[in-house]
Amino acid sequence: MAAPNIETIVSLSKRRGFVFPASDIYGGLGSSWDYGQLGVELANNIKKSWWNWLVYERDDVEGLDSSIIQNRAVWRYSGHESTFSDPLVDCRDCKARLRLDKLETDPADGRPACSNCGSKNLTEARQFNMMLRTTLGAASVEEDESALAYLRPETAQGIFINFKNVLDTSRRKLPFGIAQIGKAFRNEITPGNFIFRTREFEQMEMEYFCRPDDAPKLLQQWVDDFQVWIKSLGISEENLNLYEQQPHELAHYAERTVDIMYRFFPERDDEDKQWDELMGIANRKDFDLKAHSKKPENEEGKRINPDSTDDLSYFDPQTNERFYPYVIEPAIGVNRTLLAVMMDAYTEKTNDKGEVRVILKLKPELAPIKVAVLPLAKNNEGIVTLARKLKRDLQPSMRAVYDDTGGIGKLYARQDEIGTPFCVTVDHESLEDNAVTVRDRDTWEQERIPVEALRKYLSERLG
Ligand code: GAP
Repeated sequence: MAAPNIETIVSLSKRRGFVFPASDIYGGLGSSWDYGQLGVELANNIKKSWWNWLVYERDDVEGLDSSIIQNRAVWRYSGHESTFSDPLVDCRDCKARLRLDKLETDPADGRPACSNCGSKNLTEARQFNMMLRTTLGAASVEEDESALAYLRPETAQGIFINFKNVLDTSRRKLPFGIAQIGKAFRNEITPGNFIFRTREFEQMEMEYFCRPDDAPKLLQQWVDDFQVWIKSLGISEENLNLYEQQPHELAHYAERTVDIMYRFFPERDDEDKQWDELMGIANRKDFDLKAHSKKPENEEGKRINPDSTDDLSYFDPQTNERFYPYVIEPAIGVNRTLLAVMMDAYTEKTNDKGEVRVILKLKPELAPIKVAVLPLAKNNEGIVTLARKLKRDLQPSMRAVYDDTGGIGKLYARQDEIGTPFCVTVDHESLEDNAVTVRDRDTWEQERIPVEALRKYLSERLG
């Protein structure tokens, strides 16, 4: 089966309750999305998998949850106030506002062309800062400039400014990491492609602090390890690719960045354009810890940061050295991961009546609902009572639902489409033999299981 395009996932998401357009009843809000009853479960399961794998199953990573709004100085010294911008141009013919670095250039004359109408009649580029602004307190920014604050454009800076807090209180030694999951905000000029690029999104970031000499080797190690984790979510290898960022593409802080790319646009004819970034793994060197420290001086002997009150260097008691650790940063978006997981899990199968059915083959660990309990006859009190009891008994150990709102074929189809690994059907015979039918989502095979063995049977298969 051909890979689905993003539109197929948009339609499934809206139809079944994964993702809805935000503010829909007021005409929407460009590229904003709300996560529905299934989307929130899938996103939570992805975040749980990341946190378990990184924080609980390793010995060298601590967790953190820092504020979205920080002192404005954080963004001044991180470089975001001066450099976190995209080059913006306007098309004089169709009036589209465009990111210059995303436009195709005409090979004949090297001039960029409007992606909307093809015109080369574009304005001069100007830099547009992407941080979303807000004000704190009752004064406006015009009345009091210090009222200006930003919504964080990355979760990373909250980790850097807490480096010493975590180091001192956890008594960690290098190398170690600090992991954080949280919302980030960017005033993207050209958001779009569903949840791929939005102005409000969620990141899962880890800053891994190490000795400078170890950084190149560790970057490679994290590139390898993250591919293993991504594949553990059910994303297939053939839809993953590595991209080495070129010197002109590197962020101001990065020495080297490797992007893990996913085939988000399989419908595009040009193979190169089928891929886009799922995550980036960067060597940020000691840029951020130095930038936020009161200590370092530039060549003229001036303090780089006169506002910081602390020094974020590290003292190694074994070598008696004091230095600024280097940082390897694997950064991945929750929303892009959810999109890739749904695209990879999407399959279609034809039943014996010749009807095409959608099956979302999610890994059981990620499935929003693990089991659906379905009564074969909703007017039979004995069947309904047993089905409801089974659902209640399973609920504490796995997410279970009860559904009697249609014929059994329709109920199976609905659960297949939302990725529920197992359906349990209670029928007339169940009242006699105290057994139920368990149906597998992927094979559609059915097995008769005694009620008392049901929880164990399901738990073993859900992992
Ligand atoms: N701290 C480094 C950093 O923020 P980034 O490449 O700008 O690096 C990391 O962002 C990840 O966050 C991306 O690989 C992507 O998965 C996600 N991401 C970034 N901008 C996004 C946006 N506007 N919408 C959705 N996800 C986004």
